Amino acid sequence: MCGIVGYIGHREAYPIIIEGLKRLEYRGYDSAGIALYDGTNLKVSKTKGKVADLEQRVADEISTNANLGIGHTRWATHGIPNDLNAHPHYSNSGNLVIIHNGIIENYDSLRKELISRGYTFKSETDTEVLINLIEDVKIKEDVKLGKAVQIALNQVVGAYSIAVFDKTKPGEIVIARLGSPLAVGIGENEFFIASDASPFIEYTKNAVYLEDEEMAIIRAGKDIKIRKIKDDSLVDPYVQELQMNLEQIEKGGYDHFMLKEIFEQPNAIKDTYRGRLLAKKGIIKMSGVDDNIEKFLNANRIVIVACGTSWHAGLVAEYIFEDLARIPVEVEYASEFRYRNPVITNKDVVIAISQSGETADTLAAIKLAKANGAFVFGVCNVVGSSIARETNAGAYTHAGPEIGVASTKAFTTQITVLSLIALKLAKAKGAISNSDYRYHLQELELIPEKVTKALTSDTHIKAVADTYKEARNCLYLGRGYNFPVALEGALKLKEISYIHAEGYPAAEMKHGPIALIDEQMPVIVIATKKGHYDKVVSNIQEIKSRKGKIIGIVTEGDTHVKELADHVIEVPETLEPLSPLLTTIPLQLLSYHIAVMLGKNVDQPRNLAKSVTVE
Ligand code: F6R
Repeated sequence: MCGIVGYIGHREAYPIIIEGLKRLEYRGYDSAGIALYDGTNLKVSKTKGKVADLEQRVADEISTNANLGIGHTRWATHGIPNDLNAHPHYSNSGNLVIIHNGIIENYDSLRKELISRGYTFKSETDTEVLINLIEDVKIKEDVKLGKAVQIALNQVVGAYSIAVFDKTKPGEIVIARLGSPLAVGIGENEFFIASDASPFIEYTKNAVYLEDEEMAIIRAGKDIKIRKIKDDSLVDPYVQELQMNLEQIEKGGYDHFMLKEIFEQPNAIKDTYRGRLLAKKGIIKMSGVDDNIEKFLNANRIVIVACGTSWHAGLVAEYIFEDLARIPVEVEYASEFRYRNPVITNKDVVIAISQSGETADTLAAIKLAKANGAFVFGVCNVVGSSIARETNAGAYTHAGPEIGVASTKAFTTQITVLSLIALKLAKAKGAISNSDYRYHLQELELIPEKVTKALTSDTHIKAVADTYKEARNCLYLGRGYNFPVALEGALKLKEISYIHAEGYPAAEMKHGPIALIDEQMPVIVIATKKGHYDKVVSNIQEIKSRKGKIIGIVTEGDTHVKELADHVIEVPETLEPLSPLLTTIPLQLLSYHIAVMLGKNVDQPRNLAKSVTVE
């Protein structure tokens, strides 16, 4: 949700900022801008559109010897995407320059107050209000930039990560964070600032992640000084070593990140269970669970909170926890949970699932659950993310960076982690027989190779995509463990191809959606052998009688559905609780190919952003 990047040091800032913006473009891409300062000349350029448009615009006019710069890629909140609303924004004097990720909720009253004191605004953004508030404080209180930022932020309600500099004081950038991520790469006499570490990974492996309500004054050649915004106390910077490498954040020969990430799933799943799943010994090692096993076993129930695809992984987990571990589970949209006054006590375990670890609603749900005494366990992909830090304990998915906006490997690796936890608890509770437990472990270990096999249907899936690419609506049906997969399949299609799609439990079809079925309607039915097969076959018959076009996702060697369906896509056989890890693969590929055939930008679908750090 907006990407920010900055540099101060001895190198030329422009290439670092522009390349950094390209890497952060997954966070928002409706406009982009850059400010470069060489100590004398300040150049600001911004435009509606992508970073590539910005690059074109600045090609002739950008100063190349600036050693200080900030850049922004925007996901609009206040004000439509246009050149004026794009960041950076200036203060009225033209001296202060800011980039901002987040929302200033009380911007309207602050704006009115500033207008009453003579300030004028060029844009509709909350950000321009903030930079003028900082300027106002700086002048009124006669303080330096850092102090002015601190005083101003104490008057602000909302979420932010910001980078600000003052052209009358070259060589310094002030940054601050509340609710939106901000990392600082520490180099030799140079600093890199970014919403995540990807823009500076080739320059340094050392990074400091600012915590909420912290700010820092960064000067080239000096140490980073971090302070609490509220009480001005100094904080010791905690320098982390980054695990990410450049290859992981590049496309590696694939046309799109989404396709690369779909094909990475065998390895991603392996990385997720590596060192945790010892199938031969019948052991699952997960320190976050081991250290808190009593909390899980004594819980009245598990409440899962998440959004979007992660919420779908939570639904799969509900089936597996209840089925195998016999623990009651409720799955909640974090955005509903946080505002509906839920009954949560210290007898509940809350599991928060998030790829980015930055989703604002999930973070707020965690805080609420903790405030009510619940033990909160996080399942996150991004190491060191806000959710990973806010939870009492957790398990990383180790999927590697997911850059395509449509979540793919995050989903399957989340299910892998949640399956490990469910099996571990099932064993600890004695809810599963030893032989069944071992059988599940062995099958889980085989999943990467079965995913590889499922991926070999890619060419066939492309042909199916070609047949249905003009569809205006699609229905996805599944039962049991594969009902959430139907939801996820529909979400994948709508978010990247803009074709309307709905996921339903197959049996619910006759309670309404069946009215939609005619010869124009493709219906994707997950009909694997172990998942209520006969019942799903009956549902297929019902669709066929109404002339719907059937695409069956079936177990290898299935002949029955083949006779009824217009197309079948096979996946290898596995245990039912693990089947979502396989059935989801063809649905990801189908969406991908349809979107590509329709000429859509699959990695950056319209209106979306990879991590939703505003509510
Ligand atoms: C869909 C998608 C979103 C995210 C949702 C939660 O493909 O990517 O629905 O799943 O925004 O994001 P995280 O998992 O980062 O909390």
